[in-house]
Amino acid sequence: MSSRARRSVLFVCLGNICRSPLAEAAFRAEAARQGLDVKVDSAGTGSWHVGEPPDPRAVATALRRGIDISGYRARQASRADFLRFDHIVALDRANLAALRALRPHDATAALSLLLDHAPGRSGQAVADPYFGDDRGFDTTWEDVTQGAEGLARRLLAENGTLSAGAR
Ligand code: 4NP
Repeated sequence: MSSRARRSVLFVCLGNICRSPLAEAAFRAEAARQGLDVKVDSAGTGSWHVGEPPDPRAVATALRRGIDISGYRARQASRADFLRFDHIVALDRANLAALRALRPHDATAALSLLLDHAPGRSGQAVADPYFGDDRGFDTTWEDVTQGAEGLARRLLAENGTLSAGAR
């Protein structure tokens, strides 16, 4: 990749209707705040909700922070994603394992767990709020925001290293 190439990040949970759309929204907001130019998307390892908008509770959670995710549509992660994105970020260990199984031998994407990017939270999962109550979605938002902040800082630092190297 050239040093000027735009970075890209894909967030992946199970259904792509609760956690990863919120991670996508939080990371878009954080990237804008930190001045990071990055392509962002989300997907699910499962196919049950393909084509659907995010869960209404996820839409409401983002809207309370001034972010409209109602136009997002769920899709399933694919092997091609490993060549299209620089970073593929799983929301929990089960999805990280599913992604490792899907990963093609010529993958260029770096695979990681979202909370590995949050100081002091390495190895932790963003819990699935789907079968819980509305409050679970606020916890999800706090978790994905912490991961998004750390990941954005890391990409910004990588960009700095790349442009310094290009001089
Ligand atoms: P997500 O939540 O993986 O955060 O989008 C879920 C959504 C749907 C299901 C499970 C988790 N489901 O079993 O349909």
